[in-house]
Amino acid sequence: MKRLLFVWHSRTGHTRQMLEAALRGARDPAITGIDCVVRDALEATPEDVWEADGIVLGTPENFGYMSGALKMFFERVYPPCLERTQGKPYGVFIRAGNDGRGALASIERIVTGLRWKQVLPPVIIAGDFDPARLVDCEELGQTFAAGLEAGVF
Ligand SMILES: Cc1cc2nc3c(=O)[nH]c(=O)nc-3n(C[C@H](O)[C@H](O)[C@H](O)COP(=O)(O)O)c2cc1C
Repeated sequence: MKRLLFVWHSRTGHTRQMLEAALRGARDPAITGIDCVVRDALEATPEDVWEADGIVLGTPENFGYMSGALKMFFERVYPPCLERTQGKPYGVFIRAGNDGRGALASIERIVTGLRWKQVLPPVIIAGDFDPARLVDCEELGQTFAAGLEAGVF
């Protein structure tokens, strides 16, 4: 089994809905070789990252940046992961009242340092929360899990 790690944070539930949709996709019954591990950004450890074959990050945009919780995750895992996780495939979903570009840029700056590789386009649900867009999160999870299982990523 390969491991797909979801590190996420949500205060008012929108990003949580995105996580649940991504998990629905990744847990497609047709995909049998992937174990999904879900960690709140405040609790995820360097070991979680070491043991993951792929990582999905989920955050709201707050103050033009990723959530403080996800930033704390990166501050915690960056030093112990720097030499051990280069090349890890990752994906990202973002919930934003405006456009989410600040959150995305803040994440991309850090993972560039870690040398993770983004394997799927980011999913950003911006403006009024439209539940119809959750299908994009589901597709992100499904495509990531299927690609990991097939050894594409
Ligand atoms: C303190 C605070 C700061 C925020 N700053 C931004 C921002 O800079 N850009 C933006 O697009 N949305 C911003 N938002 C809106 C949140 O991204 C939005 O409410 C989102 O749905 C929260 O996600 P959650 O429901 O998963 O907690 C902010 C919200 C809060 C509470």
